[in-house]
Amino acid sequence: MTPLQGLSLAAVRLSDADLGLTHILDEAELARAATFRSPALRDTFTAGRIALRLHISALTGDSPGSLTADYFCPTCGNRAGHGIPQYRLPSRTGHLRASLSRSANWCLLAASLDEGLAGIGVDLEDGSAADFDGFPSLALTATERGQLQEVPPALKAKFQTRLWVRKEAVLKALGTGLAKAPSAVDVSGPIPAGLSGPPAAALWKVEDLSPAALGLPGGFAAAIATWQPRDVRASWPDGIGSLPPR
Ligand SMILES: CC(C)(COP(=O)(O)OP(=O)(O)OC[C@H]1O[C@@H](n2cnc3c(N)ncnc32)[C@H](O)[C@@H]1OP(=O)(O)O)[C@@H](O)C(=O)NCCC(=O)NCCS
Repeated sequence: MTPLQGLSLAAVRLSDADLGLTHILDEAELARAATFRSPALRDTFTAGRIALRLHISALTGDSPGSLTADYFCPTCGNRAGHGIPQYRLPSRTGHLRASLSRSANWCLLAASLDEGLAGIGVDLEDGSAADFDGFPSLALTATERGQLQEVPPALKAKFQTRLWVRKEAVLKALGTGLAKAPSAVDVSGPIPAGLSGPPAAALWKVEDLSPAALGLPGGFAAAIATWQPRDVRASWPDGIGSLPPR
């Protein structure tokens, strides 16, 4: 796979986001924020969206308030402020790919202007997030369950969460999120398996991210997934994982 050009990755504390910058969000984002009844959840959402705008702005040079949020949900087919993170930039058309994940007081952000990239996904979880009875049968493939059996009991919770963030990163890069069953996607190796449609033939990569390298506390697990068509000159496939025609 061609190395990604200009992939920008960062972890930020949500409590460090300046909520005084809420005015840089656009109408769709403010409308989505208003749907949260809990002020704490509203602030968490708002802080993440501010952080993502600042992150993209640092990459592209556009002012954070000049981006137009254009999120698309392939499940319901709406541009109602949720789904795949997409922003239109004043400085260029197309090709911005972005992903975000919040966990506790932290937010993991990724953005790239690589023209060959069709999808990007990041996920961040507390290390015990997938430590519950039934997780393996609910979320894992047979291969992953086999790997889990080889893991010493004391490390199983961490291993399950590692697989979970890898799966969520892939499902975000795919654009489906959990609308696609996580148990259908195998992330036991560096190339996810179990995908269908055009993304199945694409060049995929999923990898663990080091919490320490991102400045995250040690208890977190994080992963990034990316995919690009084998022939980057080919037009983007319609639908999942691509910027749909406007
Ligand atoms: C995407 C998803 C896996 C993330 O879950 P999570 O671990 O609770 O939350 P995270 O903090 O890690 O990620 C949230 C971010 O994922 C991104 N995201 C949401 N849906 C996405 C999708 N379909 N593809 C790619 N990224 C998506 C957004 O950036 C979102 O941030 P926002 O809250 O600012 O909009 C989960 O929310 C999901 O599966 N959503 C889609 C379910 C669906 O299709 N619902 C139907 C709606 S009509």
